[in-house]
Amino acid sequence: MTERKDDRLWGGRFEREPNAHFDAFQRSFAFDRRLLPYEIAVDRAWAKALEPIGIFSATEVKQTLAALDKIADRAKTDTAWVDSFGANAEDVHHFVEKALVEELGPLGWKLHTGRSRNELVATDFRLFVIDAAAEIHRALSSLLNALLQQAKTNVSVPMAGMTHMQHAQPILLSHFLLAHAESFLRDVTRLQHAAASADACPMGSGALAGNSFGIDRNAIARELGFSKITANSLDAVSDRDFALDYLFALTGIATHLSRLAEDFVIFASQEFAYVILPDEYSTGSSLMPQKKNPDSWELIRGKTGRITGALLGLLTTLKGLPTSYQRDLQEDKEALFAAHDQVADTLLVPSGAVSTTKFNAEKLRSKAANPALLATEAADYLVRKGIPFRQAHDLVGKLLKEAERLGRVWTELPLAELKNISPAFESDFAKVLNVDAALAAKKVPGGTAPDSVRKAISDLEERLNIKTTKLGATP
Ligand code: ARG
Repeated sequence: MTERKDDRLWGGRFEREPNAHFDAFQRSFAFDRRLLPYEIAVDRAWAKALEPIGIFSATEVKQTLAALDKIADRAKTDTAWVDSFGANAEDVHHFVEKALVEELGPLGWKLHTGRSRNELVATDFRLFVIDAAAEIHRALSSLLNALLQQAKTNVSVPMAGMTHMQHAQPILLSHFLLAHAESFLRDVTRLQHAAASADACPMGSGALAGNSFGIDRNAIARELGFSKITANSLDAVSDRDFALDYLFALTGIATHLSRLAEDFVIFASQEFAYVILPDEYSTGSSLMPQKKNPDSWELIRGKTGRITGALLGLLTTLKGLPTSYQRDLQEDKEALFAAHDQVADTLLVPSGAVSTTKFNAEKLRSKAANPALLATEAADYLVRKGIPFRQAHDLVGKLLKEAERLGRVWTELPLAELKNISPAFESDFAKVLNVDAALAAKKVPGGTAPDSVRKAISDLEERLNIKTTKLGATP
């Protein structure tokens, strides 16, 4: 029988040491050490709050704060110490307590008065999510800017808009780029939502029931930068919705990046040749000398799986857990950290890849000139001549079929032929049959008319400024 060692956070009622495999299995320091700066911030706030309720003297607060600062400084510069000293730490909470006891002797054991790791871990993790969301927002802002700049550069380049990957109606390339910007702006809103969801301080919730010493919860929340305290101690130690919200925001970003990537991969294919891939963001083939592959976009698209996996993983862990803290909740961190790191890493690539991509305006323009894209304009023309839309649709269908039968381009049929299909066709019909007229017609707000797109660009510039100051602004 192995004797108990007494530097654990628990063990008074135990007679034997844990099984070595189980002990290694249950420890979380290897990954929750990442929370150390937050743990120390929470410890500092807690130490201060222990004085007004008579647990700490003013000197003890001072000594504890000084020791915490020393630990924080050492941890920042001396990774080897964190590795070796942390080798026996169960988790980040244990690590700090052990280090405090090294510094202060038995005073180091006093800080944990009236509190639980259950509330600590929830608080640290919330603080992490708030910072993480701001970091990702900053990275997204540079992608949004790159899309905006390309939209400005290519403001009047037309392209063949598609639905079902079939030629549909002409649109502007700038309109297409702004469509992607919209989806990333929604991600910014989701990041803000995740940060708001994390913005409530659990400290004072204890293990599940609350605090018996009358600790000033609001003072702690304020000190840590939370705007409020959590409302229910039991919920506070159970709740990981903020982590789900953050993972959902990350999944949204990954999914939107994947769609952008897919568009660029297709555009880079020889069949489309809409873009010229930048050397800086492409790779070659070890076998085929001619190849330039869009690996940057393919990898961005490929990352989506693991980000979505992290969300599904946490949802699965949470499903079926009873209310209150359960050790299963320790499984919340690794995948979220990994998903955050992957998205942060991924976002270093697309803004550069977007900015350095050259659009093949000639090719885009020539595809936009496909007469098939103007069929809807022809139907709209007949509507303006008083024909109900369904009939107009049908007549244009007949016109297309007739041109096909004659082996002619339908937009070039003489008026006499058109009159055979409908007397409503007149000489002004020719005016609507061009890309510029089709684009200009879409002049509603949010439409692809050049005027609407120019307005959308200036609106986006304004919205980007607003969004950047709300969350994630560089201090
Ligand atoms: N390491 C744990 C976690 O990450 C926190 C400690 C709570 N442990 C406990 N036995 N109550 O969730």
